[in-house]
Amino acid sequence: MKTVVVGGTGHIGTYLVPRLLLAGHEVICLSRGQRVPYADQGIWKQVRVEKVDRVQEDKDGRFGARVAALKADVVIDLICFSAQSARQIVQGIEGKTGLYLSCGTIWVHGPSVSVPTTEAEPRRPFGEYGIGKAAMESWLLSHARETGFPAAVLHPGHIVGRGWAPLNPAGNFSLGVFASLARGERLVVPNLGLETVHHVHADDVAQIFCRAIENRAAAVGESFHVVSAAALSLRGYAERVAQWFGKKAQLEFAPWEQWRASVSAEDAAATWDHISHSPCISIEKSRRLLGYEPRYESLPAVFESLEWLIEHGKLKA
Ligand SMILES: NC(=O)c1ccc[n+]([C@@H]2O[C@H](COP(=O)([O-])OP(=O)(O)OC[C@H]3O[C@@H](n4cnc5c(N)ncnc54)[C@H](OP(=O)(O)O)[C@@H]3O)[C@@H](O)[C@H]2O)c1
Repeated sequence: MKTVVVGGTGHIGTYLVPRLLLAGHEVICLSRGQRVPYADQGIWKQVRVEKVDRVQEDKDGRFGARVAALKADVVIDLICFSAQSARQIVQGIEGKTGLYLSCGTIWVHGPSVSVPTTEAEPRRPFGEYGIGKAAMESWLLSHARETGFPAAVLHPGHIVGRGWAPLNPAGNFSLGVFASLARGERLVVPNLGLETVHHVHADDVAQIFCRAIENRAAAVGESFHVVSAAALSLRGYAERVAQWFGKKAQLEFAPWEQWRASVSAEDAAATWDHISHSPCISIEKSRRLLGYEPRYESLPAVFESLEWLIEHGKLKA
């Protein structure tokens, strides 16, 4: 199969592209050429990378035609963020490709009702990112059901893996939180520390894209979650990270307003975004229809990221 991956040199693409190559696909990656994959550099010699600015070509109305010209059997779109952008690519490739897989996010769900949240929950996203992705999903799946256009949407949780910092037990990306836990220092977490986060290893995200290709008939017209088997509470996450560093977590708790005043505006905004969603997501449908089975639980996935940060001198332990 000839497979085009739009935005294939980032977190997901680093794992997805080698998986596709090993499964026998001819892979073409479209990106601006600013990022390089984190692993398996050798295998990337087999990949054709075309320099494209998708945002600019979307504006010029050229992107759909560009992808169509590649005559791919499968198009995997990792960087579509709106219904308008989805329409643009679909208008180009409709009737010319056998499967279009778009990357969504668990942020299409707003606050949880019953957990774990299933794909069938009515969408009530908040924030520009979640609203844009939900609109993209809604348009794409309606179009697929109305016209038979072969599309599916895959919704990852907080992606982790070697190469970058994981979402931390305070619900933001500050490495200082991991450093405090590594040193056995006091760490203040917001509220009771019982709000949740739901990670997924990038290789498991790559896995579900491959499963959707293998199980095309079950995938088309549907959306699927892709997270680890269980979410973590902030408190439990902090305790386990400290334990991994050979320490006992010294946790304290502070009400949100007090906590937010103790950190930078950037960290407070990231934490608010995560705890106001507090995801706890079901993968039952992905398991049942696609045969998805995560290789990583949340903590081992995070520990792999931490090992990489330590090895590269970004985190002192
Ligand atoms: N990260 C998360 O925790 C998370 C969670 C849920 C869902 N998601 C979803 O995952 C997808 C992103 O995947 P990722 O985490 O693998 O992304 P990533 O690591 O940020 O990589 C983005 C990829 O897209 C390319 N790119 C960025 N802007 C581009 C442009 N204007 N034109 C062409 N290529 C462009 C980048 O290469 P160049 O920079 O070289 O162009 C790179 O290949 C998004 O749909 C996001 O909503 C992410």
